Amino acid sequence: MNLKPGFQKYIPFQPQPITNRTWPDKVLTQPPVWCSVDLRDGNQALIDPMNLQEKLEYFHTLLDIGVKEIEIGFPSASETEYEICRELIEGGHIPDDVTIQVLVQAREHLIRRTFEAIRGAKNVILHFYNSTSTLQRKVVFGMDCDGITKIATDAADLIYEMAQPVIEGGTNLRFEYSPESFMGTEMDYAVEICAAVLDRLHATAENPVILNLPTTVENCMPNQFADMLEYFIRNLPGRERAIISLHPHNDRGTGVATTELGLLAGADRVEATLFGNGERTGNVDMVTLAMNMWTQGIDPKLDFHNINKIRDMYERCTKMKIGERQPYVGELVFTAFSGSHQDAINKGFHYMQDSGTDMWEVPYLPIDPADVGREYEPIIRINSQSGKGGAAFVMQQNFGYDLPRAMHAEFGAVVQKESDRVGKELKPEQIFQLFDQEYLSVPKTYQLERHSFQEDARHGDASQVEFVGEVSYKGHAMEVWGEGNGPIDAFFNALHNLPEAPIDGYQFVDYKEHAISSGSDTQAVCYIHLKAPNGQDVFGVGKSHNISRASLRAILCAINRSLRQA
Ligand code: KIV
Ligand code: ZN
Repeated sequence: MNLKPGFQKYIPFQPQPITNRTWPDKVLTQPPVWCSVDLRDGNQALIDPMNLQEKLEYFHTLLDIGVKEIEIGFPSASETEYEICRELIEGGHIPDDVTIQVLVQAREHLIRRTFEAIRGAKNVILHFYNSTSTLQRKVVFGMDCDGITKIATDAADLIYEMAQPVIEGGTNLRFEYSPESFMGTEMDYAVEICAAVLDRLHATAENPVILNLPTTVENCMPNQFADMLEYFIRNLPGRERAIISLHPHNDRGTGVATTELGLLAGADRVEATLFGNGERTGNVDMVTLAMNMWTQGIDPKLDFHNINKIRDMYERCTKMKIGERQPYVGELVFTAFSGSHQDAINKGFHYMQDSGTDMWEVPYLPIDPADVGREYEPIIRINSQSGKGGAAFVMQQNFGYDLPRAMHAEFGAVVQKESDRVGKELKPEQIFQLFDQEYLSVPKTYQLERHSFQEDARHGDASQVEFVGEVSYKGHAMEVWGEGNGPIDAFFNALHNLPEAPIDGYQFVDYKEHAISSGSDTQAVCYIHLKAPNGQDVFGVGKSHNISRASLRAILCAINRSLRQA
């Protein structure tokens, strides 16, 4: 062996020449026919293949998702596989509208055993394959194209013959042929062998055969694959006799792109697995494909509204772990760490609420997390990189406090300081605790003990309001009175009149209030923005069942905070 060093030892992929390709101008408008190969391709790639119970649980999850074609295994490969096939059929697990698919190599004794395995099933796809690529012909089989074609056509003849009594017995039996390693096969030869198989299986437009064209090993770019496929479909005699199926693996990490471009190039069906489990880098991920369609306004006809439940089942049965960044399902995919992202998301939510739009228009979130059963709650976590809006967003989304925009920077700084101190991100509960310490439970140097207002509306619009109450300073209660053109003004004047430690020099800037509910209890929350005597902006928050008490508490909160800072 005289291997060239490094990258020079690889043979570049030879693209299929094609003129006037049409796939680049197409747009996906409908989902393909989905076939799950989790229980076969996925299962065969597990360190510990699934046992019967696990396969049954997985199978039922696929039914819940809405998959109608499910490759359940390779029943001729082992006793276990055979038994699982029998249990699914005899145990009544397969709904009438679901088709099971069984895989078999193009070899006589295995085909005979497979026919035994499917006895009594209502709907079956018998899937047979042999490898056709240049490399496999040369290295594995040492055969020319005619020899390889003969393996496929002999198997097709046997399958067709054995199928007749089964079909007459009431089974809806269909056929699928895979020229395994299609991506590495010369397209003219792929057309030739597939056409021969279609002939031998007596395929017609009424009884089409599934031609599954696997990217057994992904070794070219998605656009090159789309060219191959368009060429193949154009040249296949009697294309209407075939359902063109894709079976992409993911060696170059482009299984999803290969599938999407393959669909543009004319494929009708896709074989995939949940979360992309499968040999080596896996099969193409059905969830990503389906949810990609969903985000383009196409109903994929698969139900992933409770993705966490599906993930839990998957991790339990396969003992595989799903990565934190895995599209649509990973732990972190609905989390924004960057402050500018958080601000934009926040604005997106406000925009959607204010505009009343029917459409999803939130930057940085290509999908509404609720569509896959994920919550807004963990969308934003606060760390020292977060912007000022992030903390306010958490307060609104998680706890219902709609902080005025001017207050975002002040509270954001409090949160960032704490995040820097502890050196890690803060969870929503910790953010609420900071809010509570900073505003709701601030040390009460001044405290409102009781109060009443009297309003004199005799002067038309400009009413006169009188405040009478008791305010304590450092625990010492004082009767106090004040008058003003509204309750807040009257209270300010009363504070100014305090016999001991009068409050002076604060200017009222702004006010906001809203209701907040927890269970059946609804309270008013009030935010007050003041300018302190030293010119600094300071905010206070008050909460009460009584609106006016909430606003007076908010004023004292702002004053107590500014005194504490001083
Ligand atoms: O990847 C592949 O080529 C396969 C075939 C058996 C369909 O799994
Ligand atoms: Zn495969």
